[in-house]
Amino acid sequence: MRAVRCIEVGSIGDLVLEEVPPPEIRPGSVRVTVEAAGLNYVDALFVQGRYQIKPTPPFVPGSELAGTVTEIADDVGGIAPGDRIVASVGLGAFAEQVVLPASAVTLIPTSLSSPAAATLTQSFCTALYALEQRARLRTGETVLVLGGGGGVGHAAIQVATSLGADVLATASTPEKASHARAAGASVVLDPEPSSLRKRLREAAPAGIDVVVDPVGDAATEPALRSLREGGRLLVIGFAGGEIPSIPTNLILLRNRSVVGVDWGAWGMGHPAEQAALLRTVLAMVTEGRLHPPEPTAYPIEQAAMALEDLLNRRVTGKAALVMEG
Ligand SMILES: NC(=O)c1ccc[n+]([C@@H]2O[C@H](COP(=O)([O-])OP(=O)(O)OC[C@H]3O[C@@H](n4cnc5c(N)ncnc54)[C@H](OP(=O)(O)O)[C@@H]3O)[C@@H](O)[C@H]2O)c1
Repeated sequence: MRAVRCIEVGSIGDLVLEEVPPPEIRPGSVRVTVEAAGLNYVDALFVQGRYQIKPTPPFVPGSELAGTVTEIADDVGGIAPGDRIVASVGLGAFAEQVVLPASAVTLIPTSLSSPAAATLTQSFCTALYALEQRARLRTGETVLVLGGGGGVGHAAIQVATSLGADVLATASTPEKASHARAAGASVVLDPEPSSLRKRLREAAPAGIDVVVDPVGDAATEPALRSLREGGRLLVIGFAGGEIPSIPTNLILLRNRSVVGVDWGAWGMGHPAEQAALLRTVLAMVTEGRLHPPEPTAYPIEQAAMALEDLLNRRVTGKAALVMEG
């Protein structure tokens, strides 16, 4: 089988696609033929050595996947060859096969394509965790989603809309703006930070209740200033580059809150709750309340290019490595 390997930490361009022996099945595990692997910032950060966890090379990056079970260990029940699943794996998804603990895989609805399923967990679980559990979003509130044409942003628009919010979003290109509108945003604004506050005042004169912020940098402060009484800013990520510093008087004013969202750490520390959260997302998909979009597909040979596109703001929505066959 083939796998994308990081031989030396540093440059994404140094990733290599190699023939490697297939992993061996172990007690309690299942073998999965990977059909698609989601691409995420965290995968690039692992390869660049910029993530807080630093795996020893060589390693196979890739943190989420969808595929079909092809073999189960003798002691595994409740899952069978032919079942279609998703899994979050931390590392190892950029490969044609994986062996995973049976407890780590979740069955997916037949309506969901493998590329859409492979890109759903990090974006939609983060969005649902952030809006429901961290912001305690209420029906009828107004939500601003920064980076609404990106992975977390698009998912947050869908989740907020399905929870009964009115959603505004920012997006930097016409393609990303249509992606945000397709997710349910009623208004899409240019993200240019120096005039964002003015555009937000015009678009939402009564103010914003919840800001979903996966962008950071200069976008955060005008968004924070737009929060009305009791508003919450959800700090999710820093795709814009810099981690912003916030004058704390802006939090004091109007009794605002700045709320951290570390879905990844929460999920690792609370595996049963994370499994329930993923099941909720999948149930919302089955009920037609969420519609995970088809990602931009890259062949496994183009893993490095795909990660570079992601880091350089060129991907609309999500991107996935889609395996042959
Ligand atoms: N806290 C958590 O639990 C959690 C979970 C998942 C992801 N994250 C983090 O959230 C962030 C966003 O993830 P994502 O999957 O939504 O990424 P993404 O799909 O690339 O979207 C990020 C968006 O940020 C905007 N952006 C503004 N300046 C940018 C720049 N200089 N470079 C790249 N993008 C820029 C882009 O929108 P425009 O071009 O329209 O401005 C882009 O669409 C990442 O930092 C990721 O690590 C955090």
